[in-house]
Amino acid sequence: MEKMSLNFCRIDEFMDAEILESYIKAGKAVSAVMNKSQEFIKEDMLLVDIAEKIENMIQEHGAMPGCPVNLSLNNKAAHFTPAKNDSTVFKKGDMLKIDITAHIDGYIADGSYTLCSDANQKKLLDASKKALDAVIEMCMPGAKLSKISAMIEEVIKGEGYKPIENLTGHGLDRFDLHAIPQVPNVSFNGDYLLEEDQVIAIEPFATNGDGRIRDTEEVMIFSFSELNPVRNMDARKIIDFVQQYNGMPFAQRWIETGLNMNEFKTKIALRELVKNGVINTYPVLVEKKGSMVSQHEHSVIVRDDPVVLTK
Ligand code: CO
Repeated sequence: MEKMSLNFCRIDEFMDAEILESYIKAGKAVSAVMNKSQEFIKEDMLLVDIAEKIENMIQEHGAMPGCPVNLSLNNKAAHFTPAKNDSTVFKKGDMLKIDITAHIDGYIADGSYTLCSDANQKKLLDASKKALDAVIEMCMPGAKLSKISAMIEEVIKGEGYKPIENLTGHGLDRFDLHAIPQVPNVSFNGDYLLEEDQVIAIEPFATNGDGRIRDTEEVMIFSFSELNPVRNMDARKIIDFVQQYNGMPFAQRWIETGLNMNEFKTKIALRELVKNGVINTYPVLVEKKGSMVSQHEHSVIVRDDPVVLTK
């Protein structure tokens, strides 16, 4: 009880009450969807059905997706979301990372977890979770980020795996999914200190491979960058359509569905937009050696008593 009233005092003092409420509501949407999706995701389900169900559920909770849901299988670490007609299914033994982002009026919560039915992979799955659990309570004002990163590395290595060293957690700001600071999953030199009321997403990735990821040619997620002239009519339609996302990431699938555009035309138009610098790309990231990757993520408000937005 005492802690509760203390928190209420600090809401007025440091973070505007309305902003805090938006973060908490976004966090509740992500948490609810994280929990419910664990129940409804079954083997042999199409990834696209999982994605649409999750994104609809975010809206049922009064929030909007802050990024297309990432459904990255096995050696894919992040940034995969299926196209409208994707026929990939979640198969027995697959390791599926479900990364869910929701926002209320631009205030974002980001959370993820991993599913795998193969009991032999449970230790790898748990390694990223243990690392996340070990550092959440460290997110206090004045905390050294380097200590948090070193702890993530230590826990994952202690489990016999490698953290992914070139994939990081990140700050969250209004309509900005990748704000400062980056939160590395390995120790580093430097002395970034966390500040009161900063919102950060911590996301340890563990692997039995090299511990590095690389970009692939495959791109399913994009974001608007700047308005440059394009000739393709479909590309112009896409520019108008994606303004609603306020610069936050969107999926090829959202365009196929929202503009009723077939995959072939959509891909051609997106390619022209990339070429002209109108949109940014988020290439699918895979583990360098092709090894399995697990991931767990929470968003936290930095306080003496850290507020975990996603649970
Ligand atoms: Co994230």
